[in-house]
Formats: sequence, structure tokens, C-alpha cells
Amino acid sequence: METKEKPNEITRRQFLTTVGKVGGSAALFSVMGTLGLLSPEAAKAADFTPPGNSDLTVTNRNGKKVIILGAGIGGMTAAYELGKAGYDVTILEARDRAGGRNWSIRRGTTSTEIGASKQVARFDDGMYLNAGPMRIPQFHVTMEYCREFGVEIEPFNNVNDSAYYYNENAGTLSGKKIPKRAAKADMRGYVSEMLAKAIDQKALDLPITPEDKIKLVNYLKVEGDLDEDLFYRGSERGGYKDEPGSRLDAGVLRDPFDMKAIIGSGFGNFFSSEYSYDQQMMMFHPVGGMDMIAKAFEKRVGHKIKYHAEVTEIRQSSTGVRIVFNDLDKNTAKEVSGDYCICTIPLSVLKSIPADFSPDMAKAISSVGYASAGKIGLQFKRRFWEEDEQIYGGNTLTNMDITSIYYPPTKYFSKKGLLLGYYAFGSNADKLGKMSYQEREKLALMQGAKIHPQYYEEFQASFSIDWKKIKYNLGGWVAYSSDDRKTYYPTLCKPDGRIYLAGEHISYITAWQAGAIESARSVVTDIHQRVMKE
Ligand code: ALA
Repeated sequence: METKEKPNEITRRQFLTTVGKVGGSAALFSVMGTLGLLSPEAAKAADFTPPGNSDLTVTNRNGKKVIILGAGIGGMTAAYELGKAGYDVTILEARDRAGGRNWSIRRGTTSTEIGASKQVARFDDGMYLNAGPMRIPQFHVTMEYCREFGVEIEPFNNVNDSAYYYNENAGTLSGKKIPKRAAKADMRGYVSEMLAKAIDQKALDLPITPEDKIKLVNYLKVEGDLDEDLFYRGSERGGYKDEPGSRLDAGVLRDPFDMKAIIGSGFGNFFSSEYSYDQQMMMFHPVGGMDMIAKAFEKRVGHKIKYHAEVTEIRQSSTGVRIVFNDLDKNTAKEVSGDYCICTIPLSVLKSIPADFSPDMAKAISSVGYASAGKIGLQFKRRFWEEDEQIYGGNTLTNMDITSIYYPPTKYFSKKGLLLGYYAFGSNADKLGKMSYQEREKLALMQGAKIHPQYYEEFQASFSIDWKKIKYNLGGWVAYSSDDRKTYYPTLCKPDGRIYLAGEHISYITAWQAGAIESARSVVTDIHQRVMKE
């Protein structure tokens, strides 16, 4: 059989490489999609074809003007993709920086939360805290923009069994830091033991054949590391109390916790967070801070952004849109007009801006809630989690207010390090958010020191964020109830006259940059199709 390519024929790989170089990832993906080479996830990301320049110049010689509200990831995606097709775009951004929630805190960064004083980051140069997004699933469209823009990425090891679980008021394991691998081995061991014995003793009425029951018991033996009598008696998976070594040193396995202790600990409730669809073991983040993505967008669309432009009115008529904004540098009201508006302002903020929305849209905007979320970065002068405890990335989870500690998944072996001292949601975030910056720091150190007593000795500087109290955000991310999705969400997804909403809140990928990007791409497609029909 002839398998070699003919010498003069361009190979499929060469063709795809050429398309990728000339047209960027979107063009590459659309060709790959046509050739049937994409996985379902990648094919979805490739659904979008940016509007082309040529058709626009034919049908729309004067250009159409689109006003984009917000220079976050959604707003900049819309500007970038519309720009490819020659649309005239202006972005109004209230802050003096682009990126929105994509915000990396570095030395000198300031934040003044609502009702609080100014906070200045005193981290060393080179240290950063990703206050908003910090990790990217492999299959998110965000990765494609990193590829297109040449943003260097590195692994974000989301799961690390060398880190700990630590719970209080949880039976005999209360107040003890337990390596995740030990908790997992014991919990899975005992649960497998119980199920295997129940099947073996015919205590369960399962709708499967006797042969399949044997297969199921065999699976449980492997899953739980059970012995021939179906007992869990501990496992090498849980680690050693005396590590194995050279020559005759076989090591000594740790003793398993008893079943009551491990069930009572509640650790089992943490396990599934490590294999939910968008929280995989292997995630990524940009080298040097998540804002490398924002900066890459800004490099391409920054000249279209009016910074310090705080939107105060959103007006529309049958022929166009008019946006009034406060020029914060001059403290004067100004306005800008266009054919369409893409509004990426979070609903939590948008609901208070006077606007010409239909009653249905206004009701939907004001009815949806936002999630509480807070983080604190703690700089330490020594990476004790690496040096003393051999923990490289991943997180420790706890039922204390701090919820979690994330170890930096970057710059291993360097001298100093910046931990995420808490990443809290819901009522924990509200409790921490109500505190002063100093009180948050005190609590993060006090609770964190129960797990890592090295905290006090090594601590240098902190910076904390409560997203509910950050002006222009007023929340971490949209929090739809299933009723909201039925009643309000369909309205939010539709254009309201000449105004289109975009952002993570107009997606089923909420709380992710990918949601903002995908929604911006949908709006760009819709506007372009509308313009083509005009
Ligand atoms: N997507 C956000 C995270 O990864 C909520 O923490």
C-alpha cells in the first residue's frame, strides 16, 4: 500500500501549520474542524469564526461603531475580534488598567475596598497574587488565546496528595493535619471493604449476574487495596511512618486510622473537588501572573480603551447608542455614540446605572445575585512547605474560615514564596470580607499556623481582597439559581435593542475567563450578522 506523501503535495501538517501562521488559531481551528481533526471540546472552542474583513468592506463601507463597556477579558475579546473585521470600536473602562477580575497583585498595587482604607501591596518584586482567576482548564478557549498571543504558560498543579486535610469539630481526627494520601487511602479502603463484603454476603440485591458480582468485588479489592478476605488493613498508598530506604530498609507503613475516625473526619467530602470537570489535576496558568493574558489583549486593543471612564448612563434609540461617562481624570461628564453597545459590566454594578433597557431586561439585571469570594496572599521569607514538608503546589483544605491554602505552583526552590493564605467563598468570604485588612491577616495567620506552625516565624507581608467590596465588581462571579436560569437568563442572553450583554455571566461557564470569552465571541458573531443584513 502506498503510504508516502507525494513529494510535491503539501502535507496535511504543513498545510495546518501555514494556516495557523497566517490566520491564527481561529483560522487553524476552523480548517481542522472541516477536516474532522478536532476533539469535541476543541471543536466547540473552534465554533467561532471571526468576521472577515472583505465582506464587511463590501457591504459596510462606512464602518460601524461599537461601544464596549468594560475592558475585562470579555470586553477586550469583543474588541479584538471586531477589530479583525475593521469595526470601529471604543472601550470605556472605569479603572486605570485593563483586565477586570483578571488582576495580579504585585509590589505597589493598591486597592481601596468600599468603606475601607487604602491597602498597598508590599510584596517583593517578582512576587504576585492572582486576585481573580488563577487557573485554566486545559480545554478552555482561554488556552487558545494564550497560544495565539504567545503567552507562556506553565502547569498549575491543582491536586497534590502531599498537602493536607485539616478539620475541627470532626471527631478523633479534629485539629490534626492529615496528608491527603492517607485520608484517601483509608476512606476508599473502608468504603470498598463495606461494599465488597455486602456484595460477597449477598446483602445487596444487585441487578447483575454472579460473574459480574465477582468482577465488581475484584474491582473493589483493587480500588480499596483490600486483602484476600476483603479487609482493608492499610495501604502503601497512604504513606509510611518510616520511609523505605536503601539496602535492608523496607520502611514501616503508617497505621490506618480506624473506620469511625476517618468517616467522622468529613475528609471524604473534599475528594470530589479534585475531579470535577473544570478542576482537573492538570491545569495551567501564565508564567509571571494571570494578568499576562490581560496584558496580551491590551497590547492588541489598548489603543481603543478610554481609561478612567466611568459609565453613568446607557442610552439607546432606534438608530444608535449613546453612552455617558464621567472622565475621572477631569471629573467631567462626556459621551460617546455608536451603532451598537456591548456591555460587559457585571450585573451587580449594571443594575445601578441608569439605562434604556426594556422592563424585562432591567428586571433580569436587577434580580440575579453574585457570589462572595475572597483571597489573601501571604509572602513568606522561606518556602517551608517545600523545604520542611515536601509540598510543591496543590492545596490544603480545611473547615476553618480560611477554607484552603494554595501553595505556589511556580518558582519551586526559590528562596521566598507567596502562598494563597485563604480562598474563601459564601459565608466564610463574607465573614473575612467584613474584617479590616489587618484582622484578615491576623486570622489567616492564626488559622494557617495550626497547619503550618512555621507561619509566624517566616511571615513577611499580606494583601487581601473581598470581591463584594471591590468597586466596579461587587461580587466574585454571577450566582444563578436554577430558577434564574429559566426566568431571567434567556432575557439576558438576547440583545435589548442595540445593547448586547457579554461576560462570564452570559454563559454556562460562569466564574471562568472562558465564559467571558465565549460570550464575547457570540455577541461579535450576532452583531456582525445583523450588520450584514442592514
Ligand atoms: N473558577 C474559579 C476557580 O477556579 C471559581 O476558583
